[in-house]
Amino acid sequence: MFKLNLVGIVGNNAPFSYNRVLLQFMKQHFSDQFNLDVCEIDDIPLFNERDLASVPQTVVTLSQKIKDADGIIIATPEYDHAIPAALKSAIEWLSVYEHALTTKPVMVAGASLGVQGTARAQDNLRQILNSPGVNGFVMPGFEFLLNSAKSKFDDQGQLTDSGTTKFLSECVDHFMNFVADNKKTVATA
Ligand SMILES: Cc1cc2nc3c(=O)[nH]c(=O)nc-3n(C[C@H](O)[C@H](O)[C@H](O)COP(=O)(O)O)c2cc1C
Repeated sequence: MFKLNLVGIVGNNAPFSYNRVLLQFMKQHFSDQFNLDVCEIDDIPLFNERDLASVPQTVVTLSQKIKDADGIIIATPEYDHAIPAALKSAIEWLSVYEHALTTKPVMVAGASLGVQGTARAQDNLRQILNSPGVNGFVMPGFEFLLNSAKSKFDDQGQLTDSGTTKFLSECVDHFMNFVADNKKTVATA
């Protein structure tokens, strides 16, 4: 059966991250629908415009994976009502080197400890993905917001609430269609 190849970006450089747990859950739970390469940003140095002559290999590798993928899922934490600096820095690299996210279908998701489940960080991320140099094709709506993340996973990293899993499946189904529509648009362009 044909399966999409997606890249999942863990939006934090922390050794433990609920957003990493979320992407690992998605990789396993939706394995019949897509392959998900869960990628880390912890080894990407802080962006510095003067470094453009020597782009880090970690950026080159992530950029290539994004270019090869059918779509991208970014799982962002929320730090001080915005995305973490590590994620912003990684996107800055991608926005100046090869523009790999340009016209790439992107699903935005996020998990946080707070009750609003990364709502502000996701708005912030959508704004960033719209910027010139990034130009991601971000799926409208279907915002997967996971609040109170600590109580939502069991020890095996499985989502324990069936309603939450059902909503995640709905968001993923729409993203599958969004990616397919994008492929048709690119093919006929
Ligand atoms: C500097 C800092 C700022 C934070 N700000 C927020 C916030 O604005 N909203 C929120 O819901 N949680 C906030 N948190 C808690 C995060 O939701 C929590 O650390 C979460 O586990 C981060 O996601 P991760 O586990 O994927 O790294 C903050 C945590 C830190 C360390």
